Parts: sequence; C-alpha cells; structure tokens
Amino acid sequence: MELKLKDKTAFISGSTSGIGFATAKMLLAEGMQVYINGRSSTGVTKAVDELKAQVKGAKVFGIVADFKKPQEVQELTNQISEVDVLINNVGIYNSQSFFDTSDEQWNDQFQVNFMSGVHLSQHYLQKMLNKNWGRIIFISSECAYLVPTDMISYSATKAAMHALSRGLAQIAKGTAVTVNVIVPGSTMSEGAKDFLANKAKLDGVSQKEVETSFFSSERTQSLLERFASVEEVSNAIIYLCSPLSSATNGSVLKVDGGSSGGIL
Ligand SMILES: NC(=O)c1ccc[n+]([C@@H]2O[C@H](COP(=O)([O-])OP(=O)(O)OC[C@H]3O[C@@H](n4cnc5c(N)ncnc54)[C@H](OP(=O)(O)O)[C@@H]3O)[C@@H](O)[C@H]2O)c1
Repeated sequence: MELKLKDKTAFISGSTSGIGFATAKMLLAEGMQVYINGRSSTGVTKAVDELKAQVKGAKVFGIVADFKKPQEVQELTNQISEVDVLINNVGIYNSQSFFDTSDEQWNDQFQVNFMSGVHLSQHYLQKMLNKNWGRIIFISSECAYLVPTDMISYSATKAAMHALSRGLAQIAKGTAVTVNVIVPGSTMSEGAKDFLANKAKLDGVSQKEVETSFFSSERTQSLLERFASVEEVSNAIIYLCSPLSSATNGSVLKVDGGSSGGIL
C-alpha cells in the first residue's frame, strides 16, 4: 500500500531502539526525512548509522536531547523548527511498590512520558495548523487501562496522555491535522528483552518460561498470549502517520493483543 508519505518530515522521541527505531526504519523506507532521538551522541550516531545501513538512501538525522531536561528539549525545538509528523514515543517506567515510589521518580516519569508531549506539541502543533496538515501520535500503553499495582506512576502518565491527545485533537477541529493515541501491549523491545532476561536470571528459569508465566498470571486478558514484535506496533503507527488515516482523529488505536479487555 502506498502510504503517501514521501518527502514529509517526522520527529520521533526516544528512537535509538525499540518501537521508535522500528518506526523510523519504516518511515524512512517510505521516503520520509526522519529525526531520531536519544540521550547520548554515541547512541544516536550508532542508530543513525544502522538506519543508513538498513535503508538505502535513508534521509535520517540524529538529535541528542534528554527529556528529563527541559533546556535540552528547548534546544531540540530550536534546531528542528517544524515537522509534518510528531511521534511522542519516549517512555520510562519503574516497577515497584507504590509506597516506595519517590517524588523524584513520579516527577521523572511525568517529565519524560507526559511533559515531553506537552512541550513538543506546544511547539509543533501551531505550525501544523498554520499549514493545515500534520500528524501527532502519542504512544501510550496497555498500563493506562490495566494499572498494574507495581506501575501506578507509569500508568498515570499514560492515562494523562489520553486526555492531552484528545484535547489537542479538539484544538485541531475542522483542519487536516489529526492527533491520536496508539496503545501497545507487551512488546519485545530492547527494554522488554532486558526485563525478561533479568527476571529469568533472578528466578532461575528460562526466558521462555518467564514469558509464558507473564501471560498466564499477569496479562491474563491477552488474546495474543505473546509479546508483539516492535514491527507489529510500528505498522499501526505508520498508518496513523499517513494521509490515508485522515478520518481517524481524537482516537485511540489499540495494538495490545486484546490485553486491556472489554469492548472499548
Ligand atoms: N515495550 C513494551 O512492552 C511497551 C508496552 C507498552 C507501551 N510501551 C511504550 O512504547 C514506547 C517505546 O517503548 P520501547 O519499549 O520501544 O522503548 P525502549 O526499548 O525502552 O527504548 C527506549 C528509547 O528511549 C530513549 N530514551 C530513554 N529515556 C530517554 C530520555 N530521558 N530522553 C530521550 N530519550 C530517552 C532511549 O534512548 P537512549 O538509550 O539512546 O538514550 C531509547 O531510544 C514507550 O513510551 C513505552 O512506554 C512499550
């Protein structure tokens, strides 16, 4: 399917690996110019080189910025004045007791997961409205619905993101700018691989056993009963980037393998 994205420009936060990296690769293959992002110049350069090696003629650029540091976000928006597509992908989490989660951890997660989208949208949305075309996509999580008790702070940042996205879509009412949320379920990114490897080591079992028990004891509503690949999530993201998705606005698209349950 021709996604009609050639020569458009995208910025993807937190995209040196995982879902962001896979999305960058797909958008580059569509002929887009893509800015990827991470916290260190070593990581960003490595990811840019990998994308250039994997996609012939890739128009990919790297921007170093740590979303915990508002000054670096300001510098980022000074460097990239406008984009056609903004993908708010960066996300961090802590898995621990509510009682042990410090104010610093709450603040860091809100800063990185939520305020990153606020700051970037404040900068790019008006420019999209001025030219009457644009896409803003927020990467949420099944945790916004499931609210695991060891991830309440993370879940709260993702739930807040849904209100932000809907509000921005309403600002864009009557234009060709759309703002939507993607809800990934458990996805085999580098972060998830580390989580499984650590847990397997800790419990003295194989990674496969950890994965199986995760779906039989924690993500019990999952219909997929396995981790999605990053590409399975990116397929949905690139559809929302495309002009073909023009009637989907202020909406939520789940790629959670059914884990959040129910019919809404
Ligand atoms: N994987 C899952 O199971 C899953 C499920 C539901 C939702 N999600 C959501 O999907 C999104 C992507 O997750 P993922 O699992 O693909 O991520 P990941 O593999 O953990 O990738 C992390 C990326 O974020 C960057 N990053 C981390 N902290 C950053 C910061 N403060 N500033 C800038 N960049 C930062 C890292 O770059 P450097 O290390 O190079 O700095 C790296 O590129 C997140 O919003 C996550 O909450 C993931």
